[in-house]
Amino acid sequence: MKITIGIKKDLKKFFSKIKKKKLYLHEPFFFGNEKKYLNKCINRNAVASNGNFHIKFENAIKKFTGAKYCVLLCNGTSALHIGLQVLGVGKNDEVLIPNVNYIASATAALYLNAVPNFVSIDEKSLGINVVKLKKFLEKNTIIKKKGLYNKKTKKFIKAIIPLHLFGYPCQIDEIIKLAKIYKLKVLEDAAEGFGTLFKKRHVGTFGNAGVLSFNGNKIITTAGGGALITNDKKLALEAKRLANVSKINHPWKMSFSAKGYNYRMPNLNAALGLAQIENIKKVLKYKKVIYRNYKKIFFNNKYFSLYKGIKNSNPNHWLITILLNKKYIKYRDYIIKFLISININVRPVWDPMTKISYLKKYPSMKSDNSIVVTQKIINLPSSVYLYKFFK
Ligand SMILES: Cc1ncc(COP(=O)(O)O)c(C=O)c1O
Repeated sequence: MKITIGIKKDLKKFFSKIKKKKLYLHEPFFFGNEKKYLNKCINRNAVASNGNFHIKFENAIKKFTGAKYCVLLCNGTSALHIGLQVLGVGKNDEVLIPNVNYIASATAALYLNAVPNFVSIDEKSLGINVVKLKKFLEKNTIIKKKGLYNKKTKKFIKAIIPLHLFGYPCQIDEIIKLAKIYKLKVLEDAAEGFGTLFKKRHVGTFGNAGVLSFNGNKIITTAGGGALITNDKKLALEAKRLANVSKINHPWKMSFSAKGYNYRMPNLNAALGLAQIENIKKVLKYKKVIYRNYKKIFFNNKYFSLYKGIKNSNPNHWLITILLNKKYIKYRDYIIKFLISININVRPVWDPMTKISYLKKYPSMKSDNSIVVTQKIINLPSSVYLYKFFK
């Protein structure tokens, strides 16, 4: 097919420099103190919650992101769960969630018996469509004493979870403005955005709290892990307590104050994280080199465009992405299958939340262009080590 021939030619040019048989989407890199720190943990018998890598990694995250507080957790999903809970989301409360999303935001709301309400995204930011959000809030809600009331569903909307998709910032400044007017709590999903800046500020620090993920496929990894970052001391302390099964703070007494969760990050994972974060500036530089090289090859391509992000953003380029031109959407699956067959691992984005069978019953925006946007997206191999081939 003509389109695959065109794409194959471009990609071949790009990948001809790379001496690797198979390209994965995003592989972890280990070129720092990883082994040294992991050995230290094992030699000192400090693999679980004891040991000082925990504190060191937390401090490094605070310094790098500019957040005042950081709570290390076992993954990003637990950070979303605890984050919503400390922001006061509970049974029957609605949570606004972008329709193009990983499943974790919706499930975190459901863990709390809250109700996800899916909002449209726009093609420019790949995040919440601010124009549609504003119209929705103006038309469908009233600000009452108890909070923001949804006239249609007769429920209170407590929070919004803006997402910085693939490490590219959404219109977070505009979303924060609306959240302030409509008294919404903001939990930023920056799981994919470690190292991403918007208006020179780290994503995840605009809202009441932000979520980070250090899963194996992220820009830096702790194997599995995550964090909640915030500037609010009370929120941070409450999150820490919940993540530590609400154990009372006492030198030797063993008791618990309320229902909590076992969501702490073990010291071994924090050791890995510290070694990784020590190289974050280098990694971000390498990702820019990779992005620039994709840009050179795909400049003026007639089938698709390379996603570049919105104005004022400095993305981490976690997953470098192409958007097929509308005319070629119908070839998406064909292109993906073809590239995988030649060992170039690419990926479509997740199905929109409103297409997932068990989520269909929840409220969502009516005229939603998110589905068309998702059909355009293909993520390209974006592993850090690729930079070596473009030096
Ligand atoms: C956008 C987004 N949110 C949340 C998560 C959840 O993170 P984790 O896999 O660490 O639970 C992920 C990641 O994997 C993600 O991509």
